[in-house]
Amino acid sequence: MLNIVIFGAPGSGKGTQSEKLVARYGLQHVSTGEILRDEIEANTELGKLAESYMSRGELVPDCIVIDMLDNLIEKKKYEKGFIFDGFPRTVPQGEALNKMLSKHDENVNVVISLEVKDEELINRLIKRGKISGRSDDNRETIEARLKVYYRQTSPLKLFYRAHGILKEIDGIGTVDEIFRTIEYEIDQLIK
Ligand code: AP5
Repeated sequence: MLNIVIFGAPGSGKGTQSEKLVARYGLQHVSTGEILRDEIEANTELGKLAESYMSRGELVPDCIVIDMLDNLIEKKKYEKGFIFDGFPRTVPQGEALNKMLSKHDENVNVVISLEVKDEELINRLIKRGKISGRSDDNRETIEARLKVYYRQTSPLKLFYRAHGILKEIDGIGTVDEIFRTIEYEIDQLIK
């Protein structure tokens, strides 16, 4: 099995590259952001709680997201593996993911970190906000999301570097160019 974490700041291309990875390697895509947006759409209790954090660009508390992911992984079939997009986002989430996978004698094989400078991230998200209307894609919330990324999420790079599985990839260029670099790293791993 192949378990990939796709990592990076908001707007770095995690969702875009995940779609291509799913098509190429037949992995199951797990996006915590998408799951939470579905809960908001369905107006569930979890959705209402999540919205109060997401609308401010803050992270939903670890205990809620970890429980949500643990339940989901238990229900999914272990076939070819997972691509985790937007999870983990804190060191405790990273530790929890290791525990969840180790219950199945699995682990995270590689962490692909998409490196994109802030100016480009902000431009991409403002552009998407105008088209998609995603409520957290406005300048104020984007800036809050970036601060949260640097403060709470980027320390995970040290965590995964220490595990020897972090691959930092230039996330600027065309979607296909970036994908080719990711594909090369993964093919090296599974060869
Ligand atoms: P989430 O949904 O995970 O959002 P995000 O991390 O802010 O990421 P985005 O979806 O905005 O960007 P992306 O990196 O996926 O890039 P994309 O491919 O979409 O999380 C939303 C919120 O949910 C969080 O703020 C938090 O509140 C909560 N949450 C989620 N997970 C959580 C967790 N684990 N713990 C706690 N809270 C959690 O691309 C962005 C745009 O750029 C698109 O328009 C795309 O077309 C464009 N683009 C992509 N690639 C390129 C390229 N190469 N060149 C030019 N444009 C490009």
